[in-house]
Formats: sequence, structure tokens, C-alpha cells
Amino acid sequence: MLIRSLAYVGLTTRDLAGWESFAGEVLGLPADRAGDRLLLRMDERIYRFDLRQGEREELAWLGWEVASAADLAEVERSLTAAGLPVHRADDAECADRRLIGMISVRDPAGVRHEIGYGQEADFRPLRLTRPLSGYLTGGFGMGHAVIGVKEYDETLAFLVDGLGFRISDTFGGFIAFLHCNPRHHSIALVHTDEPGLRHIMLETTGLDDVGATIDVCLSRGIVTRTLGRHTNDRAVSFYLSTPSGWEIEYGWGGIEVDSADHSARQLVGPTSLWGHQHLVDNEIRSS
Ligand SMILES: [Fe+2]
Repeated sequence: MLIRSLAYVGLTTRDLAGWESFAGEVLGLPADRAGDRLLLRMDERIYRFDLRQGEREELAWLGWEVASAADLAEVERSLTAAGLPVHRADDAECADRRLIGMISVRDPAGVRHEIGYGQEADFRPLRLTRPLSGYLTGGFGMGHAVIGVKEYDETLAFLVDGLGFRISDTFGGFIAFLHCNPRHHSIALVHTDEPGLRHIMLETTGLDDVGATIDVCLSRGIVTRTLGRHTNDRAVSFYLSTPSGWEIEYGWGGIEVDSADHSARQLVGPTSLWGHQHLVDNEIRSS
């Protein structure tokens, strides 16, 4: 698999100031604000979230990592051979993304995927802004993204045949969970008439981090789903609302998938073993 992990996400928001305080006070992430751009760090990488001032609260791109220039060229060749219009970033675009090399392509749903290598990293100890043990990143990437799309079959084929993702599970013929490293899924697609970013999942290295963060979120009234455990990746997590309106799934303890011996599964039953009840203003929604 040439794509190794979700390295970064690009997002637009009307509320960069809100994001800056939210990142520091809720997620514990140090922020670097430069004009109409806000970069958030989770680890040694110079950023994981790239927020830009904009008119809409939406995903602008997903940044996938490959290991080398040779791997990038191979991904470019295979996408081009499949007839997809691939854009090769020039020096200015690479500098903007803090990468050595990058290509980009749009999937059938219109989501922009950037594939690159050589992201800047600063290995001096990172001081999170809240007492947390830290985030599970490294070879697992920054987390996972769940995207709603109308063009479900075509986008799934693009991810599998074009980018080389492998299916971990499907659910009900309208959700697909895909992996590119031991994280159970780095991206999931949901077939819907309301496309767009559903959530980004961040995984901590300790359960107490989840507990401490749910306390912060309850005090701010931004918990959207109660603590629960998903059936497929087994992560213990809750959901919270970001300043943009889309959610972050905040969890710990997801299983690891070994691509060499994982068989795709078709899930039945509820998607959570327990919990994940929907909350509105800290009250369980009665429907
Ligand atoms: Fe999730």
C-alpha cells in the first residue's frame, strides 16, 4: 500500500478565532495563527489541521502521506493511467503545505485528495495546552475522516482502485470503512443526499484523556453523542461539536488491523455496542 496515513486535513471556517480557542481549551492542541490561516499541531508534525478563513464550514482537502518521491510518482502514474486528472503541485504549493512533493486529485464526489511526502516535523517535545497523555499518531496518521457522498459506489471504487485503500468493513450497503495502516479506518464513506464532512476522529493514548475531555465538553455543552463503543473498531469514544458545526469523535483504544490477514466484513446490528446516544444541550434526545 503506497498511501501510508492521513497526514493532515484542510478546512475552511468563518470562525478562525473560535477555532483557536477551541483547539487550545478543548483539544489541547497548540495553534499557530498567521493571518487568515490557523495551523494546529498534535505531535511532531508541523501541523495536522490546516484551517483557512472562508465563507463555509467545510472540508477543503484530505492530505495523504506516501514515503518517498518514488512512491509519489507511482501513485501519480496509476491515477493518470486510470484516466484521472492529476495535478502536480509546484514549489509554491508544496511550500504552502510544508511538503517536499505533492499531487492532488478530486474523487468522483468532488473531495480533493492531496498525496505528498516530506511533511515538516519538529521533534522537540510538544507541549499540549491541556494536561493530556497525547494523541495516537505516527504510523497511524492523525485519525480518521468520515465523509458523506452522493456518488458512493464511484467514490469507493476510486479509493480502492485508485488510491489503494482496503475495505475494513461495510455497513448496510451505505457505509464503507477503509484502512491504509493499522488504524481500523482512516476514511469512511457514507452514502447520503447531504454530502460533506461528518466527523474527524482523534485517538488519545490514554482512556483518562477521553474522560478528562468529556468533562471539558460537558461544561461547555458541546457533547453531541455520549460515551460509547463502536462495534467494529472497538474505540471508546464520544462526539463533540466543533466551532464549524461538524463533529470530532474523540476516543481511545481502537483495534489494530493487519492488512495481510484482515478480511472485509459486512456489519449487521447497531454500530455501537453501547452508548453514543445523541445529545442536544447535554440532554439525551428523546427520539
Ligand atoms: Fe468515527
